[in-house]
Amino acid sequence: MWSSRLMFILAAAGSAVGLGNIWGFPYLAGENGGGVFVLAYLACIALIGLPILIAEILMGRAGRQNPITTMKLLARASGASQFWQIIGWMGALAGFMILSFYGVIAGWAMAYVGDMANGDFVGVTGTEAATVFETFISDPVRVITWQTVFMLVTISITARGVSQGLEKTVQYLMPLLFLLLVILVGYSALTTGHFLEGLGFMFSPDWESFSGDSFIAAMGQAFFTLSLGMGAIMAYGAYMPAGSSVVGTATTIAVLDTSVALMSGLVIFPLVFANGLESSAGPGLMFITLPIAFGQMAGGQIFGTLFFVLVTFAAVTSSISLLEPAVAWVGERLNTSRAKAS
Ligand code: PFF
Repeated sequence: MWSSRLMFILAAAGSAVGLGNIWGFPYLAGENGGGVFVLAYLACIALIGLPILIAEILMGRAGRQNPITTMKLLARASGASQFWQIIGWMGALAGFMILSFYGVIAGWAMAYVGDMANGDFVGVTGTEAATVFETFISDPVRVITWQTVFMLVTISITARGVSQGLEKTVQYLMPLLFLLLVILVGYSALTTGHFLEGLGFMFSPDWESFSGDSFIAAMGQAFFTLSLGMGAIMAYGAYMPAGSSVVGTATTIAVLDTSVALMSGLVIFPLVFANGLESSAGPGLMFITLPIAFGQMAGGQIFGTLFFVLVTFAAVTSSISLLEPAVAWVGERLNTSRAKAS
């Protein structure tokens, strides 16, 4: 069990807040016309994401097992087909598969902490920053090493269990993450001189650029960012103390997650605009465009390092939730210790 409702909120918000918010949301907003995408995203979070989040927490709390067994028990209890179990299987498997690329990108972010601190991006041109990134991601040894480091961190946390591992991690990392984000928004607002432009890009919809595809992208992002459909939230719900309000808790988690995505946009877009760069750079926005911007700014070396520390923290508190359903299932099913299951 989580030791309190607050701990559950921190853990679930930790799962929700991740690469999806800091890396995914800004680049998708940048590619899909800013304000319109943000509006569609907010609508999807409120109308689709939040109800499913509530449902997953409730099911997890009702079953009190790993998501696979929970689906089996709930189907049996309500006289429904045993095939509903498949949902549990698909979730745990999808979480495991997502982790296989999530760990790679988180490894990139970890590597960038060192590169930023080293001053590798100070004064770089666009071509130089792109070369640094492309050389790095086409070097299997470096990429696999960083992914391995990240996965070892993830595994060592889940191995320690709910109260000693998961809870201790989110208890320290989540407040730190919010603090870093506030510092970075302040830096972006005070030093770029383009804060209002960033704000305008995110909040004034340019209807011309709205398309069915941007709506689908916004909906996919809403699912991903709230960690839905993977059993992660169901697994965390299983450790939730009885009696706390699920609707209130889920709303808090969705609000925290959305705030982090919007604040990440407010860190990134002013920096990008202040340096005359393109907001529509796609997945490279965080690994090429942003380092160029930090490389041009006063204090960019320090704040750029802090930025990638922030991304790494956010990724760790999500990856542990991607591994949790599988670890809980293996542990309960094979009756082994969590350490071995992890
Ligand atoms: N919500 C996480 C993010 O936005 O980065 C990613 C994620 C975590 C997706 C856990 C699914 C999940 F089960």
